[in-house]
Amino acid sequence: TASADFVVVANRLPVDLERTADGSRRWTASPGGLVSALEPFLRSRKGAWVGWPGVPDVEVEEFDDDGLVLHPVSLTSDDVRDYYEGFSNATLWPLYHDVVARPVFDRSWWESYVRVNRRFAEASAKVAAEGATVWIQDYQLQLVPAMLRELRPDLRIGFFLHIPFPPVELFMQMPWRTEIVRGLVGADLVGFHRPGGAQNFLWLARQLAGLESSRGAVGIRTRPGLMQVGDRTVRVGAFPISIDAIGLDKLAKTKGVAERAAQLRHDLGNPKKVLLGVDRLDYTKGIDLRLQALHELLHEGRVRPEDVTFVQLATPSRERVEHYQRMRGDIEQMVGRINGEFARVGHPVVHYLHQSVNRTELAAFFSAADVMVVTPLRDGMNLVCKEYVACRHDLGGSLVLSEFAGAAAELTSALLVNPHDLDGVKNALETAITLDPAEGRRRMRAMRRQVLTHDVDRWARSFLQALGAEPAD
Ligand code: G6P
Repeated sequence: TASADFVVVANRLPVDLERTADGSRRWTASPGGLVSALEPFLRSRKGAWVGWPGVPDVEVEEFDDDGLVLHPVSLTSDDVRDYYEGFSNATLWPLYHDVVARPVFDRSWWESYVRVNRRFAEASAKVAAEGATVWIQDYQLQLVPAMLRELRPDLRIGFFLHIPFPPVELFMQMPWRTEIVRGLVGADLVGFHRPGGAQNFLWLARQLAGLESSRGAVGIRTRPGLMQVGDRTVRVGAFPISIDAIGLDKLAKTKGVAERAAQLRHDLGNPKKVLLGVDRLDYTKGIDLRLQALHELLHEGRVRPEDVTFVQLATPSRERVEHYQRMRGDIEQMVGRINGEFARVGHPVVHYLHQSVNRTELAAFFSAADVMVVTPLRDGMNLVCKEYVACRHDLGGSLVLSEFAGAAAELTSALLVNPHDLDGVKNALETAITLDPAEGRRRMRAMRRQVLTHDVDRWARSFLQALGAEPAD
């Protein structure tokens, strides 16, 4: 089936196989920013997608999903434990997010990571047509570029990292650091969200893999850096990802979304201000910090419980990984505590939903929220804040945004905060709640200009142009 000219390779397929209680199967949308960004783009290209169907121990044949050909790679329960929950999410994820949790370095997890990466490389080699472009995604598959190149030297290979690439001092902790860098430079182009990540990587590649960088490559900000790997040239650059902004703007303008938003506000008891958080339940997202800030504001009487309602949508994520379990416990305890102290019967202050929500419902929540609270300790980009902005065609609402989200470099008119500075977060929340509407509109207008002109299609095209897979504009 070596037929596809354009192949995306990611740990997950854009859809997840769900086994229901009665033993039947159904497909649902996969969680996370990677899928929500890439899926609309790839559908418009009619490409192929190689990935895991999201449950262990199932063999699924390739199939056509509305023009997009999906090639499932199956993982056993051991693979899921060691490669996915272990090395990907208890080693790489915390290491790359500034060690906000301590990464675990386990040799058997590493071995599983190598094995599973090889399986993805082999699957991609089968799917790609002669001379095809293969675009490999994210931290779970960093060895695939070099493995695939060995199998298929005819391919054009791109790699994009959807999470931060850490400072050199932190990356150096990784026992298999050289292997990872060697895996990545198998690509013709290695892309990051931010110039800082690209620079960290260029520096490391020189140090660890003994690669030569052409003069002036390190420190280049606007155009990709270049590295010499044997007789090949590898480009390294920053490509900030985005969302389907026009699609979301349109959706938010529909009558259905407007009505649902009004209904939500009504169901919440028509509070003066609705505050909203939307995240995967992940310890990097700073959900606990924003709850703590709210708790203190209520305590100090700076915010009155009858005036505000805080809605936290927390999508279930990586539920068997210990740190995620602990964070869930902490968050749920805090929600209980705030409501215990400040709720009245029928009027909780915090509404907490540990559920995933579909796109239309999400657009309604964004439309209904006066203050969007995005406070990650570290985040590659964070698409939720861009989605909020895309939904606010009415220029209403304000955004409290962590400086440690990649998006902060673009959304400079947000109320930017250092999430580690609790007083700063409290002040920003208070400012957002009491913001002068004209000032709010001015900020929102500036942010919308940025988001609507820098959508996911532009991101993908600029990456593929730098890869030489697409003609320049
Ligand atoms: C982030 C990662 C993605 C990942 C997603 C969901 O966006 O960058 O690679 O797919 O989270 O996480 P999960 O572990 O459920 O795939």
